[in-house]
Amino acid sequence: MAVITVKVNGKNYKKEVSDNTLLSDFLRENLSLTGTHVGCDTSQCGACVVHLNGNSVKSCTTLVADCNGSEITTIEGLGGNHKVQRAWMALDVPQCGYCQPGQIMQASALLANNKKPSDADIDSWMSGNICRCGTYPRIRAAIKAAAKMS
Ligand code: FES
Repeated sequence: MAVITVKVNGKNYKKEVSDNTLLSDFLRENLSLTGTHVGCDTSQCGACVVHLNGNSVKSCTTLVADCNGSEITTIEGLGGNHKVQRAWMALDVPQCGYCQPGQIMQASALLANNKKPSDADIDSWMSGNICRCGTYPRIRAAIKAAAKMS
């Protein structure tokens, strides 16, 4: 067991966690932030992506004990009016929707570091995020639309 302090979506938490507690389970079960989805649970699909100190990570294979002192942002923390979320709605990106929180978190991390990503940049950056419905063309278009928004 370990006592960790983390800031999640701007709020500070001090919690006792097991050494093997996954960040995805901590967010969903301890903090009730169920917007972070779990698909494969093996770092393959990207449904569980969150931001850890500004970088996108797969929370299903990140130990929360290793996040002590970190800032974490989940899909809830984007606030609903983030330009990526606005672009997603404008282009009606989701189909079943299950993978979309992870897609949006991965896309927002891209735009934080690359204001005008090319198709190749987008395809490379988003390659770890799988969509079984095949919404990839709309995801790419929405990232480009978001890049043009202020
Ligand atoms: Fe984490 Fe699939 S649930 S990558």
